[in-house]
Amino acid sequence: MVSLSLGCLALFFCFYVHQVHANSGQIFVTTSLVNFDARIVEVRSGGDEIGDRWSITNDSNHPFVGREIGAANRWTLKGSQTFGSGYPYGNVDNTTIAGRPFPYGLWPLYWGNNMMGSGEYGPALDGVRPGGQLVTIPLKTEDGAYDITEGEMYHIIGDRDSATYMMISLVRSCHVSPAWPTKFDPTSPNSTVRMENVIQYYRASSFALASPGYNNTFARSSLNTESTGATPIPDTIRYSEFHKCLDDVIMNALGIMNWAPGYSPTPIADAIWVTFILLTCTIIIVLWFVHTVRFHWRNIKRKWRAAKRRKAEMIAARNRSLMYEMYP
Ligand SMILES: *[C@@H]1O[C@H](CO)[C@@H](O)[C@H](O)[C@H]1NC(C)=O
Ligand SMILES: *[C@@H]1O[C@H](CO)[C@@H](O)[C@H](O)[C@H]1NC(C)=O
Repeated sequence: MVSLSLGCLALFFCFYVHQVHANSGQIFVTTSLVNFDARIVEVRSGGDEIGDRWSITNDSNHPFVGREIGAANRWTLKGSQTFGSGYPYGNVDNTTIAGRPFPYGLWPLYWGNNMMGSGEYGPALDGVRPGGQLVTIPLKTEDGAYDITEGEMYHIIGDRDSATYMMISLVRSCHVSPAWPTKFDPTSPNSTVRMENVIQYYRASSFALASPGYNNTFARSSLNTESTGATPIPDTIRYSEFHKCLDDVIMNALGIMNWAPGYSPTPIADAIWVTFILLTCTIIIVLWFVHTVRFHWRNIKRKWRAAKRRKAEMIAARNRSLMYEMYP
């Protein structure tokens, strides 16, 4: 009974934490200029667990009218080293990412020179790109918490907001030295991160982890598909605890898109949950209360009877001794 009550409290606590976490990093994805029905990309979100795809309507001449959006959850977040990987749906042609949907709400990276059709997501549309223009942030760890091999270093690449929120999680969880984003320009000759350096794409190729210690010779090949494979990732990276932490935190925290507005089952689901939890807790607490009161009442009664018995015995004993005194 006590453990049930504790479980009940734990349930409440989880619900409370869930509510508090609703205030973690958010990006509003707006595809219409005639209403405020933005969708929300949220850090640590479970994603669109209902799985209703939705199309960008032509009410405001959005650049990607008719594209499907949404219906992806965290289970399908991870891609491979190959650009165009990590799509839960919409990957009909491995050689191009042009024309693809936005399962997580964010646009794929842009690699310059219309690489694999990424030109349509290029800097000309930076003003519309959800989460802001593409940025990169170096990930170093310098406090000695990890055994780092010489020159082992990583970069994240993604929209400004996703990268900034990710940096917060990485600083908190992986001893990453804080650093602010810088504009990512893949066409610049002195760009620090190149397409060949990507060791992992995430979220329908809209976010990537790269390392200068990796040189994927297949990255730009015209036969670049998931079936041709990629240069193996060196052991210094593959078995690095620092890399493992970065990957784990990205997998857990990277912002992904919630349910569509209007369809949102959240308030109803929350109401059902609250009712269920309250009802369960009330029943458990009432049962516990009745049980405790009965237990204590019986105890008191038992003690009272025992005291009465002892008193009667004492009186009897005293009477016996008195009788003894009366007949010396
Ligand atoms: C969207 O609507 C505008 C205005 O009606 C039209 O000119 C344009 O071609 C439409 N775009 C698409 C992709 O249907
Ligand atoms: C990466 O590999 C390519 C092809 O083998 C080579 O031309 C290039 O110099 C390499 N780059 C680095 C930085 O090692």
